Amino acid sequence: MVKINLKLLKKQAQEEIKESGDLKFLNEVFKRYLGKGGELTFVLRSLEKLPKARRVKVGKEANEIKNDLIIQFDKKTREIEQKVQKEAEEKEWLDITAPGKRPLVGHLNPLTLARRDVEDIFQSMGFSVIEGPQMESEWYNFDALNIPKDHPARDAWDTFYLKNGLLLRTHTSPVQVRFMEKHNPPLRIIVPGPVFRHEATDPSHEFELFQVEGLMVDKDISAANFKATVREFFSRFFRKEVDFRLRPDYFPFTEPSFDISISCVVCGGKGCSTCKKTGFVEVAGAGMVHPNVFKAAGLNPKNWQGWAFGFGLERLTMMKYKINDIRLFRSGDLRFLQQF
Ligand code: PHE
Repeated sequence: MVKINLKLLKKQAQEEIKESGDLKFLNEVFKRYLGKGGELTFVLRSLEKLPKARRVKVGKEANEIKNDLIIQFDKKTREIEQKVQKEAEEKEWLDITAPGKRPLVGHLNPLTLARRDVEDIFQSMGFSVIEGPQMESEWYNFDALNIPKDHPARDAWDTFYLKNGLLLRTHTSPVQVRFMEKHNPPLRIIVPGPVFRHEATDPSHEFELFQVEGLMVDKDISAANFKATVREFFSRFFRKEVDFRLRPDYFPFTEPSFDISISCVVCGGKGCSTCKKTGFVEVAGAGMVHPNVFKAAGLNPKNWQGWAFGFGLERLTMMKYKINDIRLFRSGDLRFLQQF
């Protein structure tokens, strides 16, 4: 028969509970005394082997110790749990006065901003926004616009010809014909979209450009309507009156034709590298729709008159934001884009 000093056992157990710093350790102490093979459990199990008088005495004492230890285990467990929670709360505090972190947002390309502006302005004047194909046939890009094969004017547009017999449109004018084939006048449209020219690049030339074509057709349309529309457009796009001039020009699909130049905003008209020292920057070609273009679209030129223009959106945008190199628009340079 193993002799166990219950008083010593109680004292030891109480001390170990007291010293427990975490739940894992405490659990081990519990197992050591009250687990299946624990020391106190062993005492309780061996009771039956004792003579009756002793059994009652030792049994009472052992059970009292057991109950006492359980209470102490519970107490210690709560203590440790509270301590752990308090530590976590101290670590996880939140400073609600700290300034927030600004999320990174992208920037719209200035060409996109300008395009939206142009569309809004013309839509408010009753124009519809129309698109057309970027891969175009020779018929729509040239022939239907009164530029037959072998016509020297074709040289004015250095063209990318494709293997499938089509070409990359060199201007948005083909959409004039496409639209008039399907819609009867009176009509007012603008056609924004990319065009392509087989050209060397420099600060004022790119092989991909963004044009905005305009077309207005009705019974009695004159160049005066055109000038008034353009003046309204400029003052709203630049948010101030802009000096502009029309000069005679030549396009096979308009007669008469003119170019539109605006006073250079980079130098205020004094002359700089952007305006090539002339004080003016050419931003568009325009004119009265040629009778042959009406015919190609199936309209009778005796019944209708109209004007058309083709703006280079890059040039307009360069003037609006004082940008001095056209290549920046498609460079993907974040230092440039982040300014808009
Ligand atoms: N399509 C011409 C160009 O790209 C511009 C233009 C459009 C001229 C409409 C007259 C009328 O140069």
